[in-house]
Amino acid sequence: MKTNSNIIQWQSPSNIALIKYWGKHGMQLPNNASLSMTLKNARTTTEMRFLPSAEGMEVNYYFEGERNQLFEEKVILYFEKIKVELPFVDDYIFEIHSSNSFPHSTGIASSASSMSALALCLLSVEEIINKKKYEKGEFFSRASHLARLGSGSASRSVYGGWTTWGSIEDYENTSNERASTLGFDVHPKFEKMGDAVLLVSSKTKSVSSSLGHNLMKIHPFANARYEQATDNIHALMCSMQVGDFDTFASIVENEALTLHSLLMTSSPDGMLFRSGSLEIIEAVRSFRATTKTELCFTLDAGPNVHLIYPLEEKERVHRFIRNELIQFCENGKWIDDEMGGGPMQI
Ligand code: DP6
Repeated sequence: MKTNSNIIQWQSPSNIALIKYWGKHGMQLPNNASLSMTLKNARTTTEMRFLPSAEGMEVNYYFEGERNQLFEEKVILYFEKIKVELPFVDDYIFEIHSSNSFPHSTGIASSASSMSALALCLLSVEEIINKKKYEKGEFFSRASHLARLGSGSASRSVYGGWTTWGSIEDYENTSNERASTLGFDVHPKFEKMGDAVLLVSSKTKSVSSSLGHNLMKIHPFANARYEQATDNIHALMCSMQVGDFDTFASIVENEALTLHSLLMTSSPDGMLFRSGSLEIIEAVRSFRATTKTELCFTLDAGPNVHLIYPLEEKERVHRFIRNELIQFCENGKWIDDEMGGGPMQI
């Protein structure tokens, strides 16, 4: 941990949603509850230096060593938004240095890791400035709430393992305001999971989440989608408690295909699948049927495919990728990640 009293550093991971958040209202409140797995290797490291300022708030933002105007503007907008909750931001100069452990356009959500890292830094700064220490549970709950205001999916990244965000009937402690860890023990099969991200294309732009969430406001299938997501999250959590991988896989894949169906049927529409995405999906399904290997796929709003599997299947899944799937990956590239324990203060 940094010892200088005006420097804070956090490392925060990305996450991959299995029940998708797609559609929001009000101040970044989700239209349905989502569930995700926090990653281990895909992380953002953010260092925040802060000094009192006589001339009001100032932010200087560096990404991977270089001043980045675009990100800086986003961070300023974010600081303006959270000022009501953290009024001290108005009286400080911030120098922020941020870097990612994973490349761009890979199907890994950098907004989740970067916004959660930023929220964690701000909260640690608040503790120093206001000379008050939050109790651990309260710290992370508040960090999740603040991260949500930056990016919805970032709210889930402040916890390790399995995380949900959004109110879920019969599950106490779930909330639209912030994420939480699962309130039950999962079957041992689902305790340690792998995520192999297959890079089908880095060129194809994903539909920005703000555009996507907006499209849901006028989507003809929106209400049916929110009902389906509610059914899916309940059924998925049951399958995780009893260790039913078949049900787990069919729901996870249904969620990914639903997200893309919603994109394809929105106006304007978004066709983000590439032929490689489809080839991988078909190969995964046939490999699972013939070898009984427990793996399934999911996608975010882009063409790259995540393979989700219990970690005990790692060797078989990696062999399958090398033998059959690598041909569909751009320059043979894929990223080996797994479930992680959540953010870390450095
Ligand atoms: C498809 O969290 O990026 O990855 O709240 O506007 O920042 P904003 O959206 P964002 O949306 C994520 C959408 C998704 C599914 C998910 O992560 O749940």
